Amino acid sequence: MEMLRDADIDPGPLAGKRVAVLGYGNQGRAQSLNLHDSGIDVVVGLRGESGSANEVEAAGLTIAMIEDAVASADVVMMLAPDEIHEALYKEIEPQLKQGAALGFSHGLSVRFGLIEPRSDLDVFLLAPKGPGTALRALYREDKGMIALWAVEQDATGQARGIALAYGKAIGCARAGLIASSFAEEAEADLFNEQAVVWGGVPELLVAGFETLVAGGVSPEVAVLECVGELKLIADLIDQRGIAGMREVISNTAELGANLGGRRIIDDSVRSRMAEVLAEVREGRFAEELRSEEASGYRRLEKARADARKTLLEQTFRKLRSVEL
Ligand SMILES: NC(=O)c1ccc[n+]([C@@H]2O[C@H](COP(=O)([O-])OP(=O)(O)OC[C@H]3O[C@@H](n4cnc5c(N)ncnc54)[C@H](OP(=O)(O)O)[C@@H]3O)[C@@H](O)[C@H]2O)c1
Repeated sequence: MEMLRDADIDPGPLAGKRVAVLGYGNQGRAQSLNLHDSGIDVVVGLRGESGSANEVEAAGLTIAMIEDAVASADVVMMLAPDEIHEALYKEIEPQLKQGAALGFSHGLSVRFGLIEPRSDLDVFLLAPKGPGTALRALYREDKGMIALWAVEQDATGQARGIALAYGKAIGCARAGLIASSFAEEAEADLFNEQAVVWGGVPELLVAGFETLVAGGVSPEVAVLECVGELKLIADLIDQRGIAGMREVISNTAELGANLGGRRIIDDSVRSRMAEVLAEVREGRFAEELRSEEASGYRRLEKARADARKTLLEQTFRKLRSVEL
C-alpha cells in the first residue's frame, strides 16, 4: 500500500489554479475553508435559492452561481449530495473548461455510471475518511484526516498531481493519502454504511435495548448499558485498536466479550454481509438512492419520524436532556 504524506507531495499542480467547490454542506464547507487557508483560489458555487450564501460570504470566501463558478475554474469539486450528481453534472458540463479537472469525495456517481465525464476532463477522487466538521477541526489544529485518492480519467497527464496537491491543500496529507480506486472506495464505503458502523452497529444497540427491556430491565438502565457505553469503546478502539481495547477493560468484560461477541456475530451474519457487498457491487443501492431522491425522500423522512418516537429515543432524551 502506497501512503503519501505532505513531504512527498508537490503543491505545484494546483498553483495558480482556481478551484470551484459545488455545495457548501458537510464536506463543501470544510474543504472550501481548508483550501482557502492553504492559499488556494477558491470559489464556492451555489444555486440561486441557496440558504448558505450569507454564511459563505461571512467566512470571507468568494461566491458565485454554479454555472459561473464552473466556467471560471480549472478544478471543479462535486460536493453536493451524491444523488444530485447526475443532474448537476448535466447542468455544468457545457460550462466545464476544456481539460479541467473534475473531483469527487465519494466514488458512487462515477462507479455506478450516474456520470460519464467528458473525455477531455481529468477525473479524480479525494475522499476524506470522516465528516467535514472533523476535517475542518483537524486542519485548524495543524493535523489532518486520512483520505483515499484515485484517478479515473487522466486526459491531461496532470490528474495524479492535481489529486495529490488537492489532498495536501485540504490538510489530509498531514495524516496520509492512500491510493485506491473509485470502485474500491465506493463499494467499501457503501458496504460499511449498510452492514457495519452506520447500519449494523445502531441496530445492534436497538436490539440489545429491546431485549433488556423485554427482560424486565428499566429503559434507563438499558440505554445506559447498550447505548451510553458506545463512545467509550469507540475512543478505546480509535486509540489502541481492537486488541488494545480488550487489554484495558476488566477481565469480566473481556471474557464476556470473547464468549458473547462471536455468538452474536456468527457465520450467518457474515453470509448476510457478503450478500450486502454483492448487492452493492451490482449497483442495487445506487438505484435505491436514485429512486429515494425521485420520491422526494419519502422513505427517509418516514424512517426519521418513526425513529424519534421509539422508547429508546425518548429515554435517551430524558437522560441527556437532548432536544432532537
Ligand atoms: N458528509 C460526510 O461526512 C462525507 C464524508 C466523506 C465524503 N462525503 C461525500 O461528499 C459529498 C458531499 O456530501 P455532503 O454530506 O457534504 O453533502 P451535503 O452536506 O448534503 O451537501 C449540501 C450542499 O449541497 C448543495 N445542494 C443540494 N442539492 C443541490 C442541487 N440540486 N444543486 C446544487 N447544489 C445542491 C446544498 O445547497 P443549498 O445550500 O442550496 O441547499 C448544500 O450546499 C458526497 O459525495 C458525499 O458522499 C461526505
